[in-house]
Amino acid sequence: MDAQEHWENVYQNKDSRSVSWYADHVESSLARIRSLGLQPDARILDLGGGASTLVDDLLKLGYSGISVLDISPTALSIAKTRLGERASEASWIAANALEHDFGSAAYDLWHDRAVFHFLTATSDRQLYRDKASRAVKPGGFLFLNVFADDGPEKCSGLVISRHTERDLEEFFGEAFDPVMHDRFVHKTPAGSDQRFVSVLLRRKHGPG
Ligand SMILES: C[S@@+](CC[C@H](N)C(=O)[O-])C[C@H]1O[C@@H](n2cnc3c(N)ncnc32)[C@H](O)[C@@H]1O
Repeated sequence: MDAQEHWENVYQNKDSRSVSWYADHVESSLARIRSLGLQPDARILDLGGGASTLVDDLLKLGYSGISVLDISPTALSIAKTRLGERASEASWIAANALEHDFGSAAYDLWHDRAVFHFLTATSDRQLYRDKASRAVKPGGFLFLNVFADDGPEKCSGLVISRHTERDLEEFFGEAFDPVMHDRFVHKTPAGSDQRFVSVLLRRKHGPG
């Protein structure tokens, strides 16, 4: 089964509010995004946003430049249906992040919650890094939230790669400066704890 089939299968057959990564409000991301002082029309990408409620809360906060990209069209449909008329206030991109052309200096903030950790091949992580380095504006932010080294070994039944703040900061270090890092625990709808590491990086000025 390829990645798109896997994720379509998940979102077509499970209640999007019962999957392990569901949160009524993605507080861990919202608090940090609010602290960045972005302009209301900042270009914000929720990479692999799926059916996440983050877009709902960002719209409520008044952000008008939000894009949600996901490999599963069904996931995006779930979010759009939930939002109703407000769905037209965001951009929706059904695409594989590893194949999509994000353009150059297109985003003030690239947000990833529980997506980068699915890239278990070094070549895929490098491709992701190349795309993020090109797509985030100089001075813009890359905000990664992935399973920590003491977190789960699988997500959605798939083996993932766990990370530390240091390995993420080093891996992205050529094009991004570290701003802060953090750890948090996500409580799944089934009641388990998932340990995450969060790093906020800032795109350097210059080629990187
Ligand atoms: C664990 S879920 C997290 C969803 C969302 N970020 C959240 O926090 O609720 C991972 C998401 O990444 C998407 N995804 C996985 N691989 C992807 C890829 N190569 N390109 C785009 N989206 C991808 C999946 O469809 C799924 O919605």
